Amino acid sequence: MAKILEETALTFDDVLLVPQYSEISSRYGPDLSTGTCLGGISLSVPVLSANMDTVTEWEMAEAMARLGGLGIIHRFMSIEEQVRQVEKVKRADNTVIRQPIVISPQASVGEARDLMESYGVGGIMVTDEDLRLLGVLTKRDALFRPDEMQVRGCMTPREDLVVMMESDIPIEEAKQVFMENRLEKLPLINEQGKLVGLVTAKDIVKQEKYPDATRDEHGNLVVGAAVGTRPEDIERCEALQAAGVDIYVVDIAHGHSKHTLDMIKRIRQVHPQAKIVAGNVATYAGTLDLLEAGADVIKVGVGSGSICITRIVTGFGVPQLSAIMESARACQDFGAGEIIADGGIRRAGDMVKALAAGAHAVMVGSMVSGTDEAPGFPITKEGKKYKAIRGMASFTANIERKSVDKYPLAEETFDRIVPEGVEAIVPYRGSVREILYQMVGGLRSGLSYAGAHNLEELRQNAAFVRITSAGRVESGAHDVELR
Ligand code: XMP
Repeated sequence: MAKILEETALTFDDVLLVPQYSEISSRYGPDLSTGTCLGGISLSVPVLSANMDTVTEWEMAEAMARLGGLGIIHRFMSIEEQVRQVEKVKRADNTVIRQPIVISPQASVGEARDLMESYGVGGIMVTDEDLRLLGVLTKRDALFRPDEMQVRGCMTPREDLVVMMESDIPIEEAKQVFMENRLEKLPLINEQGKLVGLVTAKDIVKQEKYPDATRDEHGNLVVGAAVGTRPEDIERCEALQAAGVDIYVVDIAHGHSKHTLDMIKRIRQVHPQAKIVAGNVATYAGTLDLLEAGADVIKVGVGSGSICITRIVTGFGVPQLSAIMESARACQDFGAGEIIADGGIRRAGDMVKALAAGAHAVMVGSMVSGTDEAPGFPITKEGKKYKAIRGMASFTANIERKSVDKYPLAEETFDRIVPEGVEAIVPYRGSVREILYQMVGGLRSGLSYAGAHNLEELRQNAAFVRITSAGRVESGAHDVELR
């Protein structure tokens, strides 16, 4: 027999957080970082960009990690393409490049130029077959040299190079060597003279420019990738693992399903140490089952996203604030697990409410889909700039997914699609940095209203009140004409 549950489920606009006694004297005092949440990955800004094809590919993932958040590269592309995108983010910044690009001294200057061009680098290490360092060839060394000339004829030879012995060199020490010698590249060699790494001035500058970036233990940016739940998705996981992905997101629309549980267990078997986010769910039971299957982090949100029509088409879903609170309760009872609140975050205040309700981080789609870093170009409509966003279960996304899967497209295929997402446009909003800046500003202020020094205290101190439609009107700008 069907039943109606007693409690009313609520979402962000149904509640407000009650201001708490605060001893926070500066908005910059509180710590916004997630700590070692998210399966051991710490974010200085608790925001992830959604694994949607109009939101996160490598450019967004790179920017999000640089700014202290995290990007999850969507899965609606071939395995090879997703691997290429993950590799791009992992190679974007380095402390030490462990496998520098090398060339033989007998190679031609033309080949060297092609290599530098295709990897976007200004110089390459010249080594013998045993990787013994023989010299360096930079674009400047090759300037005006004929293509057919051998590299050894114009490289800077080993005896004229400043090198360092292999070790985990402290960045300050490397900086000193760069400054004293006016270097751009510093090769690292071992006792046999073999090239074992490379430090570049560009990378050191990036490290200093983005002190809050989300980095792994080698100084590379952290990146996540979405995978599905079909048996062949385990191949995708293996390829992503080899490419250095830091966290998997096992992501399907109805995550509380046998497919998802089986996939989590399969990944755990193949990679016991993998960091796994799984979802999406909206209930206590769903959260508990995914945690018991081995997920570290649970992605919460069914039908809450800006481009979702799952609740309209199927009648199913749980308003997001209640879904987060129920999942948080499940994590508490299980004694482990963290939550990413996914969907429906429109402003910083929604994020503060989601984090106060028990989430450890939020995932955003439409909020960042209008930025330069999101895939696609801006379009102009009636003189204003926009960017496109589409639900991953929208009509065109469904069609494109079938062609990525090499599914034969017949006319009846089109009739059989029942979209659970829409295609839309959002105002063009410049760089994602601006959006994160606003979110971080709101969160800082939110922590001070909560009297919280960090996100854990925000969760502990939070008290919500339900509001009426009159309260909602009062909460926005009112009785004035906006300019
Ligand atoms: P926001 O509100 O941040 O939501 O734009 C992003 C999240 O929406 C989910 N998503 C969908 N949900 N049909 C759905 O029901 C869809 O087609 C769809 N596409 C994305 C997803 O969880 C995303 O992170």
